[in-house]
Amino acid sequence: MNSTQSASDGTGWVDKLDDAATLAMLVSAIGAQQTKLAASSHTGLSGQVDRAQHQKQLLGAFGTIRIADDIPEAARLGPFAKHPATYRIACRISNGQPCPQADTASDVRGIALKFFTEEGVETDLLLTNEGGRSHARNAVQFMAVADIIVALLAEGTVSGIAQGLREMMMAKLGPVEGARILAVLLKETKVHHVDSVATEHYWGSVVQLGQAAIKYSLHPHPSTSAGTNAERHGDNYLRADIFNRLEQGPVKWQLGVQFFVDEATTPVNDASIAWKSDVMMIGEIELDTPPSADDEARIDRLAFNPANGFAPLGITHARQDVYAASAANRKGRGVMSSDEARAMLGAH
Ligand code: HEM
Repeated sequence: MNSTQSASDGTGWVDKLDDAATLAMLVSAIGAQQTKLAASSHTGLSGQVDRAQHQKQLLGAFGTIRIADDIPEAARLGPFAKHPATYRIACRISNGQPCPQADTASDVRGIALKFFTEEGVETDLLLTNEGGRSHARNAVQFMAVADIIVALLAEGTVSGIAQGLREMMMAKLGPVEGARILAVLLKETKVHHVDSVATEHYWGSVVQLGQAAIKYSLHPHPSTSAGTNAERHGDNYLRADIFNRLEQGPVKWQLGVQFFVDEATTPVNDASIAWKSDVMMIGEIELDTPPSADDEARIDRLAFNPANGFAPLGITHARQDVYAASAANRKGRGVMSSDEARAMLGAH
């Protein structure tokens, strides 16, 4: 697949797809990970198959997404076609590991948002705070790292990003890529301390908006206070912090988009490189009140998919199939259908 117009409007990219055998391997690998995690007595999952990634919900809350009036011409498509616009969102904030861990453990943090557009299109934004890139170049690498972390967690290693990781990474990914991935994980999940999920920057992986390749991102609103509003060392300090902030007033992030320029500056086919094009702010996300226990339970049952609302590109193709498989495999713990999510968000 490719787009052949000029590069300044996000076009001109060439998309290299994984073949069907690779996609099938990834779908089967995620299922094997979920089964292994559920079966282990060390993961705290009590035998229940759960999300294969981002299992611990730090916050599940309702709020709004506002698309601004004056957004760039090239962004006025798909979920951002109507502008200005305001939609109700369900927001799930999570730690990255596939089983519960203390918030003080080294980890990636994620935000998943679901809304239904004016045209009724189910749209999901999924983002992590890994600095605008993944540790993995592609889905096969991502799955190889996940396999190692799952093996360590299932064996009862204290943290997934721990001692055995180095040797296993070198053996499975080779010394160059193994060292590169470890360095990214160390930088983004350990050296980088998260005071609050409200003060983090988050990025999605590449998707198609019209003919453009884009990445969307969330950035703390200028009104966001620095630091931690909770006891810093508690196992659930990130959850306590965001609850305390919501007790005091709204928590907001600005919504940004970046456009593809060329494969060197803004790669579609290598997820491990942060895009260097400008981030243009096109809207805002707002959470205004602490959620009820019932809100949180419902949001924890949602299934998000980065291909909802956008055509996938690059690593997002594999993510489309793998998220659907992960959600199907965890049906036993309760997964909300798209129709139920639509009704919950009061959309048509
Ligand atoms: C590269 C950028 C990526 C970002 C920004 C990202 C972000 C996220 C987020 C925010 C969630 C939590 C969703 C929720 O709250 O329900 C999630 C879950 C998940 N991610 Fe990713 N992820 C990325 C890459 C990948 C890759 C490459 C794979 C595997 C091929 C993957 C597999 C999964 C799975 C299986 C889940 C659980 C889905 C479910 O059961 O509903 N992710 N991801």
